[in-house]
Amino acid sequence: MWGGRFAEGPSAIMREINASIPFDKALWRQDISASKAHVAMLAHCGIVSRDDARLIEGGLDRIAGEYEINGVPEDWDLEDIHMTTESRLAELIGAAAGRLHTARSRNDQVATDFKLWTRDAIDQVDAGLAALQRALVTRAAENADSIMPGFTHLQTAQPVTLGHHLMAYYEMIRRDRSRFHDARQRLNQNPLGSAALAGTGFPIDRDMTTQALGFDAPTRNSLDAVSDRDFALDYLQAAAQCALHLSRLAEEFIIWASQPFGFVRMPDTLSTGSSIMPQKKNPDAAELVRGHAGRIIGCLTSLMVSMKGLPLAYSKDMQDDKPPVFEAANLLGLSIAAMTGMVADTTFRTDKMRQAAEMGFATATDLADWLVREADIPFREAHHITGAAVKLAESKGVALEKLSLEELKAIDNRIDEGVYPALSVEASVAARSSLGGTAPEQVRIQVATAAAELGIT
Ligand code: ARG
Repeated sequence: MWGGRFAEGPSAIMREINASIPFDKALWRQDISASKAHVAMLAHCGIVSRDDARLIEGGLDRIAGEYEINGVPEDWDLEDIHMTTESRLAELIGAAAGRLHTARSRNDQVATDFKLWTRDAIDQVDAGLAALQRALVTRAAENADSIMPGFTHLQTAQPVTLGHHLMAYYEMIRRDRSRFHDARQRLNQNPLGSAALAGTGFPIDRDMTTQALGFDAPTRNSLDAVSDRDFALDYLQAAAQCALHLSRLAEEFIIWASQPFGFVRMPDTLSTGSSIMPQKKNPDAAELVRGHAGRIIGCLTSLMVSMKGLPLAYSKDMQDDKPPVFEAANLLGLSIAAMTGMVADTTFRTDKMRQAAEMGFATATDLADWLVREADIPFREAHHITGAAVKLAESKGVALEKLSLEELKAIDNRIDEGVYPALSVEASVAARSSLGGTAPEQVRIQVATAAAELGIT
C-alpha cells in the first residue's frame, strides 16, 4: 500500500508485530458499512464517478458475502482489516478500488469502525442487562416476604427480605445500564472525514456519512477525532463497574451455596462436579464471573496505560486498543448470561434463610427501638440496655425473645410483656417500612416500579 517510498519490504518480525488482522477482523462488518457510506458520499460530492462508486459498492457487498461464509482471511502482509478488504476489492474490481481511500485515512477509518463496533457492543450489553433485571424482578416478587438475615461485616445485622436483597442488585444494574447509555451518547459522533489528522482538501460532506452511519453529528476537531479512544475507555469503565457488580452477586451465591449457609441450591446447569469427591457440586460459573471481573478491570487498566502517554495524533500504540475491548465484551457477555441463569434458576432455601435470621440476635435493634418508642428512653441508653440483654441471652445460649420477662425486667424494669411481639423477625421486617426499606410492602413497591421500568406486568 505504501511501497513507493521503500527500497526493501518489512522483516518477518515487522510483519508479525505489525499485524492486527488476527483481532481487528472482528471489525469487518463495520468496516464495510463505513466504506459504503464513504464511497456513496464521494460520489454524491462528485469526488469519484457514479460508475466507480457503483463498482466499489458492488465489490464491497461481494466481499461481505465472502467474509460471512468463509471468514476473513488472515494475511499479515495486509496488516489489518482495512487493507485486507481494500486489497480484495482491487482483485475483484481492479483499478477503481484505489479510489475508495480518497479523502480518507486508516486513522479516521479505524476510529469510525471501532466506534460503530463499540456502539453495537453497548446495545448487546443493554439487552443482556435488561434480561438480568427481569430475572431479578421476577425472583424478588416471589420472595418479597421471604425473611433472611441481613449482614454488615458479614455478621448478622437485621432481618431483611430476600426480595429486598435481590432488588439491591436491580438498582446496581440500573446504574450500569445508565452508564452504558451515557457512553453510547457520548460516543455517537462521526470521526469519518477527519482523514489522517488534519482533515482533507476534498469537498466532502461529513453530514452525509454521519447520517448514513447513524451518528448524531460529525466530530468537531480532526486531531481529536483520530486520537480519541475515550469511547473505548467509557465502554470499559462501564464494563468494569458492571463486572464488579456481577462479581459481588456471584460472591453472594458462592457464600450462600456453601454448606454452613445452605441458603441456595444452585442450578445443576451452572455447576460442576469434582473428579475425586463424589458429593461435590461446585459453583464454578459464579467463581468464573468473579474471576472475569478481575480480567475486565485489567482490560480497562491496559487501555488507560496504553493511551496515557500518547501525543496527538494517531500513534501505533493505539492499535492495541482493540484486544482489551474485545476481550472485555466477550467476558462481560458471558458473565451477564451466567448470572441471569443463576438468578432465574437457583432454588432459594427460604426455610434455611429464615432459621438463620432467627439466630445471631438479628432483632436486637427492634428491642432498642421498642424501648425508645414505648418507654421514651433515649436511643443511646436503649442501645446499652439491649446490649446487656444480648449479653445475657448469649451467655445462656438462647434467642432474645426466649429471655423471661423477669430476666428482662432485671436489666431494665421499664420493659413489659408488650416487647415480645416486636422481637419476631416478621415484626422486624414489617416495621422497616420507610421508603426503600425491607418491609414486604416496600419491596412490592420497588418491584412494581421496576416492572414498569422494564415494561413487564
Ligand atoms: N491497524 C491500524 C489500527 O488498528 C489502523 C490504523 C493504521 N494507521 C496508521 N497510521 N498506521 O490502529
